[in-house]
Amino acid sequence: MANLDKVLNIEDLRKIARKKLPKPLFNYIDGGADDETNVCGNTHAFDSARLVPEYLVDVAKIDTTTKVLGREISMPLFLAPTGMTRLFHHDGETAVSKAAAAAGTYYSLSTVGATSIEDVAAVCDGPKSFQIYVMKDRGITREFIQRCKDANYDSLMLTVDIPVAGNRERELRYGFSMPPKLNLAGIAGFAARPGWVYRALTHPKAILANVAHKIPEGSSQSTSLIEYIASQFDPSVTWDDLEWMISEWGGPFAIKGILSASDARKAVDRGVTAVMVSNHGGRQLDGALSAFDALHPIVDEVGGECEIICDGGIRRGTHVLKALASGATACSMGRPYLFGLAAGGQEGVSKVIELLRAEIVRGMGLIGCRSISEIGSKHIA
Ligand code: GLV
Repeated sequence: MANLDKVLNIEDLRKIARKKLPKPLFNYIDGGADDETNVCGNTHAFDSARLVPEYLVDVAKIDTTTKVLGREISMPLFLAPTGMTRLFHHDGETAVSKAAAAAGTYYSLSTVGATSIEDVAAVCDGPKSFQIYVMKDRGITREFIQRCKDANYDSLMLTVDIPVAGNRERELRYGFSMPPKLNLAGIAGFAARPGWVYRALTHPKAILANVAHKIPEGSSQSTSLIEYIASQFDPSVTWDDLEWMISEWGGPFAIKGILSASDARKAVDRGVTAVMVSNHGGRQLDGALSAFDALHPIVDEVGGECEIICDGGIRRGTHVLKALASGATACSMGRPYLFGLAAGGQEGVSKVIELLRAEIVRGMGLIGCRSISEIGSKHIA
């Protein structure tokens, strides 16, 4: 177990994750589409904005609680869905969802996660969402909705920014598949991490747990995520499908991957609870707007009519504060908690959450805000 006491920030955890994971797996987390300009761009976008503090406010007590997708959460930051999480640590989604619940914040399970809807529900007593990709087999969407109702999920999240698979060249170069398969370039990467290989061999094989029953029996083929997306995701999904899903679910519903004000308007007119402003962590359309830059026109269009979540690039508590001051309800993060998971399992995920919580609290004190509702446009230049 890595010594997490010396970890001061998310970048420290990224460095530990890099040392612990086989190269193909680290690259899957760390990489993005094409030239990966959006991967760093999402974080850099926050740097162009400056916070404006106000002083001589009594900040002896700071309350970070807020409400998202029907549940109160302890801080304005929650865990976004990420694929294949059990590959990065054998406790995978179980560890992540338990860390989120212990911290009092939302966990979102991905369609392409490696733990089932039911298994997460069995261990996670905190707020939880299931993220849906629409498959060519439309029956599976109806099935997901029913399974989430039966397992008492709080909300659903439809991701719309994968009409086709992004071009992830690190994945092509090093190989990335479920279950892991060695290609020539990746072999050295796995061989250099015998600890990971030992744990992978001594724990149950990571599979696409939510769709495994739809993969023909006896098929032991490993699938690259890009191949899987290209073969199984339905590129013909439209706004009518969103309307159908919202009415079939009947509870809090988020649409994830929105970057334009006009799409945000369409989503709100169809009844979403939350718009998640996101470019999929730079893993889909490289050269797209960053989440933070897309936030402003979206807030102008639908602010006050729905919750607005800023997803992508969060590495510091001040990034969350900048998003909130720009009109976001809350933020979500993916890569940071995956680095924490790879570095130290559930403890590593908790470390990420607590580091960012401490930064949010400190930042609120420094700008003179005692509660989330006090953070406003006057706090950003
Ligand atoms: C899955 O959603 C991914 O971005 O890899």
